[in-house]
Parts: sequence; C-alpha cells; structure tokens
Amino acid sequence: MLTTIVRTLAQPASGLAYLLCRLPGISLKTRVALDLFDRPAYAYGILQAARQARALGIPVLSLIEFGVAKGAGLLAMERIAADVQRATGVRFRIFGFDMSEGLPRPRDYRDLPYVYRGGFYRMDQAALRPRLRRAELVLGDVRETVPPFVRTGAFPPVGFVSFDVDYYSSTVDALAIFAGASTRYLPRVFCYFDDTVHESGLYNEYTGELLAIREFNERDSPRKLCQPNGFWLTRVRPSAWNQQLYVCHLFEHPLYNAFVTPEAEHRVDSVAARRGRTPPPTLAPVSGSPDHAPIARHAVGEPAGAGR
Ligand SMILES: C[S@@+](CC[C@H](N)C(=O)[O-])C[C@H]1O[C@@H](n2cnc3c(N)ncnc32)[C@H](O)[C@@H]1O
Repeated sequence: MLTTIVRTLAQPASGLAYLLCRLPGISLKTRVALDLFDRPAYAYGILQAARQARALGIPVLSLIEFGVAKGAGLLAMERIAADVQRATGVRFRIFGFDMSEGLPRPRDYRDLPYVYRGGFYRMDQAALRPRLRRAELVLGDVRETVPPFVRTGAFPPVGFVSFDVDYYSSTVDALAIFAGASTRYLPRVFCYFDDTVHESGLYNEYTGELLAIREFNERDSPRKLCQPNGFWLTRVRPSAWNQQLYVCHLFEHPLYNAFVTPEAEHRVDSVAARRGRTPPPTLAPVSGSPDHAPIARHAVGEPAGAGR
C-alpha cells in the first residue's frame, strides 16, 4: 500500500492521467500519447498498425492475443479496436489463442518454473464468452492451433500481436504466427511481449520470452523482432511497456518500402484513386471476402506524392 502511494506521488502524471481519463472529448491520438488506457501498449500498437494500414490502403487488420486467461487483455483489445476503428475507419478481426486449462507444465528451466506453475491462469469460458463482443477464441495448445491457422490464411493481414503465454516453449510456438506468406501481415507488425520485464528482475535473455525472441532473430530469415530504439525517450510518460514493445519487420514484404509517414495518410487515397488501374504489387485479397480487398493500391518504393 505504502509502495503504491509513494509510486503515485513520485509520478504526479499518473494522478493527472487518472483525472484526464474521466474527461470527455479527448481525442484518441491524445489518449494514446498520454497512456490514458488500461492497456497503453495495446492502444499504441493498434493505433500505429491502423495508421500503417490506412497509408497502405488495407481496410481490415487482424489483432491477436496469445494467452487469454480470464480475458482482461482480450476485452481491452476489443474496446481499443472499437475506438481505433471509429477514429481511422480501419476495421479489425480479433483472435484470442489459449489452451483454456491454464498454463501447461513447464518443460524445463527455460519455462521459468521458479515463476510459473502448471494450471496458473485458467480460463473461465462460461464467464468470458458472453462478455466478448467480437473476439474469436482459438482454443488448444498453440503448438497445435497456430500452424493450421497460418496455413489456412483465412484472416486479414496481422497488425498487432500480444504475446502473453509466459513460457519460453509456448512463446516459440506462438511465434509460428509469423511463418505465413508476407501478404498475411503488415510490413511492420506491432508486438507486445508481456513477460520481458519483471519487478523482481527475474527475466533474462537465456530463458522465457526473451530467449524465444533471440532465437527468432538468430534464424536465417528476413523477419526480425526489433525494439524501437530509444522509444521510451519519445513518450510523455515513460513506462515499462515501452520496453515490452517490439516491431516485427518483414524486410522482404512487397510493401516494406512503401511510403507511410503521416503525411502519406491523407494523400494516399487520392493518389491511389488516380492510379486506379495501377498493376500490383498490392496485398493479395484473401478468402474471397470483400473485407480483405485493399482499399487503395500502393506501388512499392514510391512516395505517396509521386505521379502528381
Ligand atoms: C498470464 S495468462 C494471460 C493473461 C492475459 N493476456 C491478460 O492480460 O489478461 C497466460 C495464458 O497463457 C496460456 N498459455 C500458456 N501456454 C500456452 C500454450 N502452449 N498454448 C495455449 N495457451 C497457453 C495459459 O492458458 C494462460 O491462460
């Protein structure tokens, strides 16, 4: 209790944020900038993904949470997605992956058995399902559920992923989400890794999520998980999540070099419209759904203002 009071006094911005949260009429951009969300990393990642999608002419994105438990994160993701959709026009499909019986048994020291135990964080499906508005649950061990999910490819391009399955082994299996064709993703997918910062200093790069990230990056692949350099310096209220945010860069993505800085956002639609007959490269539609058809075409490497 005393720690909480001291921490709050040491960070007067948190008291101010508490008050601001309750004020009407604050724009989404400002709320994200000031971390006025219960999951500020989700809000930041989903807004950034939506901005990138807009600039690239992609109308619908997938948002994924690995590790649902009681559903606090997934419900927050739904609320944030609704806010971002209102502000940007980008729509979302939301997927929550979980094995529903809580954590499996740790396999070895890399699963941090000194922090976690089998059976922790059990789901309560009967309580959660009626509260979910749009999220789709994918139940089962991610080792079994992720490969067919990716193979089928029946989801809009992935824009944001939260990894919160605690173990090294489960995170390795969840990272198979990035094994699909590049058109199944934004060129830069925002990711949140929950178990990379611990108040008792128990995480390290030889175990847990940090090891899974390191091994992912050591592969001979053009896809890398990167922490945005000096990100916390850019935040009004530096916070632990600034260190938990990664971006999966797909350097081979056909749209990787497309111009997406903010000024591209309001210009790309008209440029794209004038280029109505411009041939690919574009993101391929999936599953024959109009939801997945690009809203604008954008040639690789061309600034949005080119061709005026
Ligand atoms: C800490 S909880 C998630 C909490 C949730 N993200 C939130 O913020 O409310 C971790 C969850 O990961 C799930 N999990 C761990 N390993 C898994 C695996 N191999 N396959 C599927 N789910 C797994 C567990 O069932 C558990 O519900």
